[in-house]
Amino acid sequence: MNYGFKEQPRGFATKAIHVGQEPEQWKSLCVVPQISLSTTFKQDGPGEHRGFEYSRSGNPTRNVLEKCLASLDNAKYGLTFASGLGATTTVLTMLSSGDHIVVGDDVYGGTNRLIRQVGTRLGIDVTFADPCNLDEFSKAIKPNTKLVWVETPTNPLTKVADIRALSAIVHNKGDIILAIDNTFLTSYFQRPLELGADLVCYSLTKYMNGHSDVVMGAVTMNLENLYDRLKFLQNAVGIVPSPFDCYQVNRSLKTLALRMEQHQKNAIAVAKFLESHEFVEKVLHPGLPSHPHHQLALKQTYGYSGVFSFYLKGGLNNAKAFLKAVHVFTLAESLGGYESLAELPAIMTHASVPAEDRKKLGITDSLIRLSVGLEDIEDLIADLEQALDVAKKF
Ligand SMILES: Cc1ncc(COP(=O)(O)O)c(C=O)c1O
Repeated sequence: MNYGFKEQPRGFATKAIHVGQEPEQWKSLCVVPQISLSTTFKQDGPGEHRGFEYSRSGNPTRNVLEKCLASLDNAKYGLTFASGLGATTTVLTMLSSGDHIVVGDDVYGGTNRLIRQVGTRLGIDVTFADPCNLDEFSKAIKPNTKLVWVETPTNPLTKVADIRALSAIVHNKGDIILAIDNTFLTSYFQRPLELGADLVCYSLTKYMNGHSDVVMGAVTMNLENLYDRLKFLQNAVGIVPSPFDCYQVNRSLKTLALRMEQHQKNAIAVAKFLESHEFVEKVLHPGLPSHPHHQLALKQTYGYSGVFSFYLKGGLNNAKAFLKAVHVFTLAESLGGYESLAELPAIMTHASVPAEDRKKLGITDSLIRLSVGLEDIEDLIADLEQALDVAKKF
């Protein structure tokens, strides 16, 4: 079922299972790629190697994963990093002191902190702007802007930015890189390169790995020039993932399509349940007709994942009571695993966003973010129902 979103072309699951995995690349012809733990590789003569010399600059297991990831975005190139923020950091090191970046005003708290507290200290000038307000966003771009960083849907408010329109604005203004953080939807539900983005960035820690047991990040792209710069920085800055983690994420990609379909199904059912509940003020799920960017979501994406937010009626105490009362949902940060999670962004994932910005954006004390997992839907709804009963009486 596609819930009115764009039709998913055939072939995604086949690519996730086969691209980069060719048994012929190994002497043993192993069907499941091996974990290559060696940090160094024998050379035939000084400076003469067979594609690998030192594991930070290139690793066979990492190669397998990077090729597979690139194929899922219909990208030419993929690069992986030790975390999502590691990927972001490496992208930022393409800039120099005095360069300017425009950042979406509703991005992951850690991205906000990295840019605000580290990037600016290194001399990078930053403007935060609403990527859904194209006029405001366009005005934020300056002559020294080198990078535009947008998360869509935004986190935690699930606003949807028009990637095609942003690309037109950004690329009209000059030689500026448009990077889209695609962590929330994955390459299964959204492929930003097809819409004009230059870089797609991921916290693979979330859905792409999907089992809450690896921290990793990635970037995919088509432009050779960008790839050359980032490939150099992957080695020069050195924020690389371990071969074992690459093996795990590569394995997880084999079930990405299946998992995302089920996350979507469960989350839409939960969102509809919450929307009909008397103690819920508002549900922010782009798959619901009540969402302000529903039509854009239908036009731009192939579906929606399991992460969305809602406002409870009441205040902080009600929200805390709700979060302490859930049992099937676990009160924890992060998202995208098979297990359902619930959290309070104002105090948890987005605590590092300045209070006044949180207020302006609508990240209130009664905004709860859910990551709907793969449990039985009846159990998820029953859990939320009993927790809402507790919260209501509080
Ligand atoms: C949208 C988004 N981007 C980036 C990150 C950072 O990724 P990581 O935790 O893998 O460093 C996160 C982490 O929560 C995220 O939610």
